[in-house]
Amino acid sequence: MRVLLTGGAGYIGAHTAIALLEAGHDVLIVDDMSGTSPEAVARVEQITGTTVPLLVADVRDRQALTDFLRRNAPVDAVIHLAGLKAVGESMAEPVRYYDVNLGSSITLLEVMAAEGIRTIVFSSSATVYGTPEQLPLTEESPTGIDLANPYGKTKRIIEEILSDAAAADPDLRAISLRYFNPVGAHPSGLIGEDPHGIPNNLMPFVSRVAIGSLPEVAVFGTDYDTPDGTGQRDYIHVTDLAAGHVAALEQATPGYDVYNLGTGEPVSVLELIAAFERASGREIPKRLAPRRPGDVAATYGDPSKAGRELGWATRLTIDDACRDYWNWQSRNPRGYAGA
Ligand code: WQD
Repeated sequence: MRVLLTGGAGYIGAHTAIALLEAGHDVLIVDDMSGTSPEAVARVEQITGTTVPLLVADVRDRQALTDFLRRNAPVDAVIHLAGLKAVGESMAEPVRYYDVNLGSSITLLEVMAAEGIRTIVFSSSATVYGTPEQLPLTEESPTGIDLANPYGKTKRIIEEILSDAAAADPDLRAISLRYFNPVGAHPSGLIGEDPHGIPNNLMPFVSRVAIGSLPEVAVFGTDYDTPDGTGQRDYIHVTDLAAGHVAALEQATPGYDVYNLGTGEPVSVLELIAAFERASGREIPKRLAPRRPGDVAATYGDPSKAGRELGWATRLTIDDACRDYWNWQSRNPRGYAGA
């Protein structure tokens, strides 16, 4: 299939582009580059030995998107990854998050309908569950429980839009993939996560400490009701996550469906830091700190539905993720900016 990746130059997007190309599909990318670099696409081409058509534009630019699709017709499907994704930032800038995330999704769906593209795989998030009432989280777990951040609310609303659109159009194939916590990097070390500024998420922060660009990591909360008192999350290797997109795309059927993409294995903050120390051979100075507002003690998924219906499961561990993340970071101490 020929697949448009919106946000395809980003962390998840670049890895998904490689997985699609290696599975024999064609890929084209639209990305406004606000959260990444064109170098990421150049690296995808280097790794796969192919040329990837790239449109640098906002997905809300209807004419640019339409022209790009027509220039590369026929396009069979879209994987929609473009969007703003920082939980804390969304609290400070809610209207911008609704404008960008909902606006791009609605424009995309309208252009898809106009161009006869009938398959969409959407980058959703386990954030839509809000505060878990029971673990592990399944796709039937309630969503929106104490969900306070606009980022997570936009993902939940877009899921509803896809569900309603599929109910109205019997030919539409729509799947939401609820990511847990993506980590790791492609084994080549050529592509990886490249957050701009000080990272919010744990693994990029720990990696910056290991490389020496940050002095220490704060452990947000040591009094949670977890085995070692620190927060537990479901860290999924980004190449496993990318494979999940290929499986969803290839097996999409008319209608709407939702799949958790996670390992099902909770890992604590202290366990992740220890794994990164093993992988990097570097000591990671840490400071025990108060809980971060809005954090939950533990969240992790039950990925068995994707196993049953898509034949997908994770293969890689937190140690693999730390090894691959460190390989990317040590080869690219300044991310793509160092290229
Ligand atoms: C993980 C754990 C922190 C930083 C976020 C988004 C979610 C998804 C994944 C997009 C928690 C602790 C963190 C630090 C720490 N993104 N921590 N010190 O909050 O689980 O999820 O990223 O879909 O939407 O909410 O990820 O990496 O920020 O935190 O102790 O410097 O690490 O308290 O327990 P989170 P995270």
